[in-house]
Amino acid sequence: MPTAQRSESYRAPRGTRDLLPEDLVLIHHLERTARRLAASFHYAEIRPPLLEETRLFARSLGETSDVVEKEMFTVPRRGDVGRSGTESAESSPAPGGYTFRPEGTAGVARAYIEGGFAMRAPLQKWYYIGPMFRYERPQKGRERQFTQFGVEVFGASSPHLDAEVVLLALRFFTELGFGKDLEVRINTMGDPADRDRWRAALQDYFQPLLSQRCADCRRRYERNVFRLLDCKVEACQETNAKAPRLREFLAEESAGHFAEVRNALTSLGCRVVEDPGIVRGLDYYTRTVFEVHYPPLGARSALCGGGRYDGLVESMGGPAVAGVGFAIGFTPTELALKQLGLPPTEALADLRAALNPAVYCVAIGAEDRLSTLGLASQLRAAGLTSVTLDYREKSSKAQFKEAGKMQARFVCVIGSEERAAQTVVVKDMAAGNQESVPLSEVSAYLRTQLKESDLPA
Ligand code: HAM
Repeated sequence: MPTAQRSESYRAPRGTRDLLPEDLVLIHHLERTARRLAASFHYAEIRPPLLEETRLFARSLGETSDVVEKEMFTVPRRGDVGRSGTESAESSPAPGGYTFRPEGTAGVARAYIEGGFAMRAPLQKWYYIGPMFRYERPQKGRERQFTQFGVEVFGASSPHLDAEVVLLALRFFTELGFGKDLEVRINTMGDPADRDRWRAALQDYFQPLLSQRCADCRRRYERNVFRLLDCKVEACQETNAKAPRLREFLAEESAGHFAEVRNALTSLGCRVVEDPGIVRGLDYYTRTVFEVHYPPLGARSALCGGGRYDGLVESMGGPAVAGVGFAIGFTPTELALKQLGLPPTEALADLRAALNPAVYCVAIGAEDRLSTLGLASQLRAAGLTSVTLDYREKSSKAQFKEAGKMQARFVCVIGSEERAAQTVVVKDMAAGNQESVPLSEVSAYLRTQLKESDLPA
C-alpha cells in the first residue's frame, strides 16, 4: 500500500460533515420524533434511491429553478461522458446521467407512478427521512449534504388535507419544545389558469423595467418570469414590491380552497400568517404553499417548506393525481434547538445512556480473557444491550477504571476462582455492592437488574 505523504491530509468534502456518535444523539431524537408523529398521522415510510435520472429533476423542479440550474450533484452515466446522456433522443437539453437527489418530492412522485398506485390505491400517505444533496454555498444552516424529514400525500385535494400536512409539520416542532412563537407562513400559487393570467400581467409589468434588473432576471424574464419575484438582488427586490399579486387573478375555486385551508388551521389554533412573499423556488407547486418559521431566530432560514402540487404526477407522465407535502431540514432545526437550549437534557437521557455500556466484562489475569470473551458472547446472545470488554491487554485495575470512565452500569469479573467455580462476580457500579452469580444464571440475573434500573436490556 502506498504510504501517505506527511503533508497529505483528508477532510470531509466542503459543506458536508461527519455525524459522530455524540452528534447522532440529537439526530436520533429528531428521527424518532418524526417517526412517532408520522405513525400517529398514519403515514408509512418510503425509501426511494438517493440517485435519480437527472431529467426527472429538470422536469419536476423546473429547468430555471436554482436547484436545477446551479445546485445539482450530477454524475454522468458510464460511457455517456461527452454525450447528452439522456435516454430518449427528444428529451430536454438538461444534463444527462444521474443526480444525487436535491429534494425528496420528485423521487417519491416517480415511485408513486412507477408503482402504479394511481390505479390500485390512489390515496397514499408517505414519509421519508434521509440525506439530500445541493451544491450550495455552505453557510450557517445550509449544507451540501443535509437531512430532510418529508411527507408526501397523493390522491386527495381536500383543503383539510393541506391543513393536516401543515399541522403535522407544526407538531414536529412543538414536540421538540419550540414555543408558541412558531408560525406558519402561507400563500397560494393558484391553479395553472390563474398563473397564466398572472404571468401575462407580470410580463407586462416587468417589460419596461428590464433594463434596471440584474442579468439573471433579464435571462429569466422569458423562460420563467415568476423567478424575478424571488431575486435576491436588493435593487430588483425594490421593483418587486409593486408587481401584480397572484391573488388579483385567482379563480373562485382556488381562492375558496385557500380560504378553507386558512380557516381550518386557525380554527385548530394555529398562528397563520398570510405571506404573499412565499413563492417557493420549485416549479411544481399549485395552490397552497407554506413555510414554518420561528421568528426569534431572526433571519435564519426556514425550518420547513411545503405545499400542494396537483399537476406534478401528470407532468411526469402519470395520471392526474393531486398531491401535497412538506420537508423539514434537520440542519436549521438542530441550529435552532441549540440556540434555544432545547431539547432538555432529560429528553435525550436514554439516547445518551445508550452510548455507555450496560455491562463491562473484566478479566483478572491474561488466562481469564477467553472466559470473559465467552461471557460477553453469552450475554449478547441472551439479548443484553450493550456488553463490552477490553482488547488492549489492560491490567484488571485499568479495566475497572475504564468501566468507570465509560459509566458501565455493571462490571462482571472473572478470575481463576470464578473460572474454577463456574461463577461470575457481578458488581453494581451505581449501588456499589457485588454478588457472586453462577455462570449459567448470570444473563437472567443481569436482565432483571437492568430492567429494574430502567436501562435498555
Ligand atoms: P425546500 O424548501 O427546498 O423544499 O427544502 C425544505 C427544507 O429543507 C428547507 O426549509 C430547509 O429547512 C431544508 N434545506 C433546504 N436546503 C438545505 C441545505 N442546503 N442545507 C440544509 N437544509 C436545507 C423542498 O425540498 C420540497 N421538496 C418540500 C416539499 C415536499 N414540498 C412538497 N413536498
